[in-house]
Amino acid sequence: MISVENLCFGYKPDQSILNGINFSVARGDVFALMGPSGSGKTTILRLLDLFIVPRQGSILLDGVDPQQLTGKERLAMKRRMAMVFEEPALFNASVAANIAYGLKVRHEKRATINNTVQEMLALIGLQKMARKSALLLSRGEAQRVALARAMIVRPEILFLDEPTANLDPHNVGRIEELIRTVNKRFGTTIVMATHNMGQARRIATTVGFLYAGQLVEWGDTETLFTAAADERTTAFISGELVC
Ligand SMILES: Nc1ncnc2c1ncn2[C@@H]1O[C@H](COP(=O)(O)OP(=O)(O)OP(=O)(O)O)[C@@H](O)[C@H]1O
Ligand SMILES: [Mg+2]
Repeated sequence: MISVENLCFGYKPDQSILNGINFSVARGDVFALMGPSGSGKTTILRLLDLFIVPRQGSILLDGVDPQQLTGKERLAMKRRMAMVFEEPALFNASVAANIAYGLKVRHEKRATINNTVQEMLALIGLQKMARKSALLLSRGEAQRVALARAMIVRPEILFLDEPTANLDPHNVGRIEELIRTVNKRFGTTIVMATHNMGQARRIATTVGFLYAGQLVEWGDTETLFTAAADERTTAFISGELVC
């Protein structure tokens, strides 16, 4: 579904953040990008969600290069994706209004919006909080609402950038369960960035290890964790790589 070939990027002309990145993600996969802080995980997600454009190389979505599309076609492609960040960034309105947002901007009928919001509230287990101000939620609740807000438009691809970075273990578990449910129930392809190797191992089908602008290695999760081909990956996994 996603095919990344020789992807290179820098925010400034003299800067090289990503060098020749190659990987692919199959439909329905959960792909986790691991790597130390500053290795470029968020940058890859922002390239994949078409927020920034590659300096070199290409990203193909179902064989289509978004760079070759018209603005309108690219917008249609963007609408097949959704992103959840480390900080949920909910707006000052009720939980239900926050969740409804994506359908409202698509001018869906009010009845459709209400029904789908109820379905999303049930998914995240916050039915009782529909009318509560989103700004009064705990971090864990806010992140669940952010996930519901992203999922209400039924994206084919969901990007998650450190979705549990600021949460306690109990809430980390709940979010991980929710990610698994979303992947199974809706068949959503998920690409996530995480520092948390345990998390990658628990929920990803495929993982990649990013280091110093290169995707050192990627592949089946268990294989990478138990029999990595590159010694830098082994060092990272065993905590010996000083980052
Ligand atoms: N807007 C920007 N302008 C210039 N440099 C940037 C910008 N955003 C990120 N960078 C740099 O790009 C590199 C990669 O950053 P990125 O945020 O992708 O890393 P990351 O792997 O997501 O890190 P973390 O784990 O801390 O979130 C870093 O060196 C960072 O300083
Ligand atoms: Mg990041």
